[in-house]
Amino acid sequence: MEDRLVSPKKAREDSFESLRPQYLSQYTGQEKIKESLAIAIAAAKVRGDALDHVLLYGPPGLGKTTLATIIANEMQANMKIITGPAIERPGDLAAILTNLEEGQVLFIDEIHRLNRAVEEILYPAMEDFALDIIIGKGPGARSVRLSLPNFTLIGATTRAGLLSSPLRDRFGLIHRLEFYSYQELLDIILRSAKVMEIEISEEGAFEIARRSRGTPRIGNRLLRRVRDYAQVMSDGKIDLVTSQKALALLEVDDLGLDQLDRVILKTIVEKYDGGPVGIDTLAASLGEEPDTIEDVYEPYLLQLGFIKRTPRGRMATQSVFKYLGLNVPERGNLFQEEVD
Ligand SMILES: Nc1ncnc2c1ncn2[C@@H]1O[C@H](COP(=O)(O)OP(=O)(O)OP(=O)(O)O)[C@@H](O)[C@H]1O
Ligand SMILES: [Mg+2]
Repeated sequence: MEDRLVSPKKAREDSFESLRPQYLSQYTGQEKIKESLAIAIAAAKVRGDALDHVLLYGPPGLGKTTLATIIANEMQANMKIITGPAIERPGDLAAILTNLEEGQVLFIDEIHRLNRAVEEILYPAMEDFALDIIIGKGPGARSVRLSLPNFTLIGATTRAGLLSSPLRDRFGLIHRLEFYSYQELLDIILRSAKVMEIEISEEGAFEIARRSRGTPRIGNRLLRRVRDYAQVMSDGKIDLVTSQKALALLEVDDLGLDQLDRVILKTIVEKYDGGPVGIDTLAASLGEEPDTIEDVYEPYLLQLGFIKRTPRGRMATQSVFKYLGLNVPERGNLFQEEVD
């Protein structure tokens, strides 16, 4: 399941750095976020200050890391990148913080996975640009406050709900990334094709955009696979027909759903009568981690309106029955559950 073509999670083949936009003007979509960041960045520059701390959250592959890189570029600041779970001891983070330059950006990916002791180092660092160090032990111990350079923390997470509130409250700018529209994905795919020197028609690109699950990372990946197909099966140019044939071969359907999505939907419908079914139960019957279902598979199914979250678990909506070609069951209350 790890190898699925339409997984929004990063795979090795996705590391094509030149596809990443470098400045806000090259970043497609997320208009509200761009506007708010542009203002905050301009204001910070006028004041000669570091930018306020930024929290970016949303499903994988929507452009959080890209946006962090862009913020650093726009601020003309260097960026230091670390990952939450990789920082094991408070001392490790303290060392990183004391080595920052004035105005530097510290990007912490998967910030919800910082352990508590490490996280507590961040509170005074974010709020007062200070580090509290305890010297000595027992009754003679005293706390010394070291000052840190003004820096900007950018946190990224797929699960804002898992962030502790003292941490979340210390971010001045909090933004949720949304799935992209077909038109935005079309623009992204056309831009990527240009960077990779792929000849593609607008119709061919739109066909890819439609099946990219609102996710630029998937759009870029499908583009590469369709390009491979075009190179082997024809002259390398991608038009509508090539695009359609390639995507059919890759078993990504009109909605961008693959075999695994259909298994998830069928499980809810057939095994649990359309739901509600708890996420843990569902995960167990699919042999997956509940976290993976919540982070990776479910967001797009929710976006499509195929799944609803209710207090008692996940439910399939009527659209799923239609999508799977099944009769919609006549159970009066089945679809009237309250969304939480
Ligand atoms: N708005 C955008 N415009 C153009 N390309 C984009 C945009 N957002 C993302 N991309 C492309 O999609 C790829 C994935 O984006 P990115 O790595 O920033 O996602 P992410 O949100 O950090 O994902 P993860 O949660 O897995 O870390 C990037 O390499 C970039 O090429
Ligand atoms: Mg990322």
